[in-house]
Amino acid sequence: MLITDTIALRPAVPGDAQALADAYLRNREHLSATEPPREPGFYTAAAQAERLAQPDSVTWLLFDGERVVGRVMLNNIVLGPLCSGVLGYWVDGEYAGRGLVTAAVEEVCRAARDDLGLHRVEAGTLTDNKASQRVLAKCGFVEYGRPLAYLYVAGEWRDHILFQRLLHDGPPAHLRK
Ligand SMILES: CC(C)(COP(=O)(O)OP(=O)(O)OC[C@H]1O[C@@H](n2cnc3c(N)ncnc32)[C@H](O)[C@@H]1OP(=O)(O)O)[C@@H](O)C(=O)NCCC(=O)NCCS
Repeated sequence: MLITDTIALRPAVPGDAQALADAYLRNREHLSATEPPREPGFYTAAAQAERLAQPDSVTWLLFDGERVVGRVMLNNIVLGPLCSGVLGYWVDGEYAGRGLVTAAVEEVCRAARDDLGLHRVEAGTLTDNKASQRVLAKCGFVEYGRPLAYLYVAGEWRDHILFQRLLHDGPPAHLRK
């Protein structure tokens, strides 16, 4: 789907691995403050293909033509009585501040509810990542916790703020008639 006149969002396919590796490499510096440290092999099509194939995750990519300019993913998807997933996202530094991630997160939450049957999506930000917190607020996420030393980011165990958005209040999909 087009989320602006020129930027498209769609689920990733295995053939996107090289374009995704290229996007990570271009944005290595831009993402270094908010992502875990990466091994050199991370920036290869093979490593990205392996990550795209993880069975409990779904990735959507933002495209400007053939170029990957952002990623939104649901990780740790669990069904049963939890029906939840962990949201992550980034946009290419040249494309920040245009509303792209807000629009993409809205669409991913719709897909999480309608296509994946999730009840809840959660997301965590560094305490000082105001842009990410603003994205979550605009998309209807609410804060539910402030764990200390929660995630290893940029070489340190960093405090986080956790947010969640409830997608529906019906029973889990496997219990619906
Ligand atoms: C955080 C990030 C995903 C936001 O993506 P984006 O496409 O630029 O976000 P949007 O344009 O949809 O919305 C950003 C909002 O944050 C606001 N914002 C930006 N910088 C801000 C700051 N320093 N303080 C407060 N608000 C800020 C913008 O004004 C905008 O809100 P508005 O629409 O009310 O004006 C992007 O900057 C990014 O990829 N950062 C690096 C990776 C990252 O932090 N990922 C998230 C990890 S939790």
